[in-house]
Amino acid sequence: MSINPSEDLKEILLTEDQILERLGDMAQDIDRDYHGKKLLLVGVLKGAVMVMADLSRMLTTPVAMDWMAVSSYGSGTKSSGVVRILKDLDTDLLDQHVLIVEDIIDSGLTLSWLASNLRSRGVASLEIAALFRKPDSVKVDVDVKYIGFDIPSEFVVGYGLDWNEKYRNLRYLASLHEHVYAE
Ligand code: PRP
Repeated sequence: MSINPSEDLKEILLTEDQILERLGDMAQDIDRDYHGKKLLLVGVLKGAVMVMADLSRMLTTPVAMDWMAVSSYGSGTKSSGVVRILKDLDTDLLDQHVLIVEDIIDSGLTLSWLASNLRSRGVASLEIAALFRKPDSVKVDVDVKYIGFDIPSEFVVGYGLDWNEKYRNLRYLASLHEHVYAE
């Protein structure tokens, strides 16, 4: 499959400047809330890599980072909410202040499952930061403390989000033309 940004991308929904400015606001809120504490950031591979890289570098709170990779059982059953751990954390969460860092909340099923899984590991606290959320797609309510942007329920790529692994490295968020995913 070829990569043709000029043919594939429909519209830039959020520019790099808009994203970084919002992440700065979120970082300020996080620094305020975790003042005097140590924080463990848990990134969810692969989409959250960009958010984690930029958000973590805006924080003054001392942070450690760890990563999880999860997958729903087969692409067709994503809505089942059954999640499989592909890579678990290296860190023991006992008594830790944990902040899950996600790129996007679509149905909310991944985060809902992940939050309850991590909460059961004896954390001191657990909160969620997500840069994008599609309010019209949410199927389960997830308690997200730090949210970047509510976006339309379109197919979007960039800033960590992919279409068949393409376009994750765009600095902005863009919608895809229908012909791309209808192929
Ligand atoms: C995306 C995103 C979230 C999840 C959100 O990951 O990074 O983890 O989907 O969807 P949900 O709210 O409907 O559960 P994806 O499975 O595409 O993997 P990736 O991050 O490796 O691209």
